[in-house]
Amino acid sequence: MSADQVTSDRATAERVNVAIIGGGLMGREIAAAIQRWPALIDHPVRPRLTAICDINPAALDWFDEIDTVVTKTTDYHELLADPSVDVVYVAVRHDLHEQIYTDVIRAGKGLLAEKPFGIDAAAAQSVLAAMAEHPESFVRCSSEMPFFPGAQLAIDYVRSGALGTIVEARNSFLHSSDIDRGKQINWKRQTRFCGEAGVMNDLGMHTWHVPLRLGWAPESVYGVLQNIVTERPGPDGSLVPCDTWDNAVLHSWATHDGVRFPLTTETKRIDPGQKNTWEFEAIGLDGGVRFSTKNPKLVEVFAVRDIPGGGREQVWQQLDAGSQSVWPTVTGPNFESGFSDTILQMWAVFLAERHGSLGDRFGAARPEEAALTHDIYRAAIRSHEEGRAIAL
Ligand SMILES: NC(=O)c1ccc[n+]([C@@H]2O[C@H](COP(=O)([O-])OP(=O)(O)OC[C@H]3O[C@@H](n4cnc5c(N)ncnc54)[C@H](O)[C@@H]3O)[C@@H](O)[C@H]2O)c1
Repeated sequence: MSADQVTSDRATAERVNVAIIGGGLMGREIAAAIQRWPALIDHPVRPRLTAICDINPAALDWFDEIDTVVTKTTDYHELLADPSVDVVYVAVRHDLHEQIYTDVIRAGKGLLAEKPFGIDAAAAQSVLAAMAEHPESFVRCSSEMPFFPGAQLAIDYVRSGALGTIVEARNSFLHSSDIDRGKQINWKRQTRFCGEAGVMNDLGMHTWHVPLRLGWAPESVYGVLQNIVTERPGPDGSLVPCDTWDNAVLHSWATHDGVRFPLTTETKRIDPGQKNTWEFEAIGLDGGVRFSTKNPKLVEVFAVRDIPGGGREQVWQQLDAGSQSVWPTVTGPNFESGFSDTILQMWAVFLAERHGSLGDRFGAARPEEAALTHDIYRAAIRSHEEGRAIAL
């Protein structure tokens, strides 16, 4: 591509002004990812971060790093009243999702909403209702881990039919920072802010985006839930209740190509040795595929092969996935990919789909998928309480 061609593509790309509500961990991550936009090849949209809101004025300071930001405010209504803002990314506590998401939608802005898309099923339904009243507001839910190139390869492998008759599948998201009992309480560890679903609200969307997109909506769920650390130091050092589920393993039945199979999703805050490990595995009689961000280049595929000099054997083969995910980038194809690359890819597909240019490429999590995860979590909690599988 010539330099003239690049300049002309940039000139014709749709300008989208982005605002962020919640300038914490994720607000800063998204702001930084948008700065890397020129890495995307031939994207039809040019986003610019123009506005930031946080109720904590100190959190606004970091955004001075980004010279396109013209508005800094502690009241998000100011952003919603600004006609120059096109799309809003919201990254706040779960108990605030419903109010802020519905306000963004009713203001007619596009919305990339953080998971879990409302604190519970009722909140998610209320967001869906606001969307129905405002179809002009394009809405998706955040879930970036499937944009690791290895995850995309695994998804394409399953879609190719290579599994044959499916045997089982698993998608996990595993943390362990909560192994430290001295870690201070925060909003994510309190039911009133995080929600009844606890760790499922925090990590569950990451484990359901791919299964749901592959058509694996569960017909029943058996939930195994643990609250392992029940108290943590509060702001003054004295112990306060830590009442959220730490670990949740959900055993479900789903269907692939007409065959029922056990689908397991795991969300764990306490899985010793894991730091944000996302894993996907699908096994069939003809093939299998595994990917884990623990070794983010590696994808393993299974086949029964004729081995030269040997017989017919079961073989797990290893390949390096490289850097390319859903939207092509200037990054060399053999280079490694990481968390911040997946955030850029999620934004690339979100804005491409809003623009009408995604085609059949893998997209960001849909509102109805996010809402369904709340039904799944509710079934898992009931299952845990009643000691039996719950139909969905
Ligand atoms: N996609 C991911 O990988 C990922 C990772 C972590 C968190 N999250 C999600 O992102 C959301 C935020 O999590 P976080 O870790 O960034 O939290 P955080 O606590 O680091 O940041 C939240 C920010 O929101 C601000 N805030 C609170 N009320 C506000 C209001 N009314 N208006 C504007 N700002 C307000 C707080 O001052 C804080 O700076 C949650 O939904 C969480 O589940 C997603």
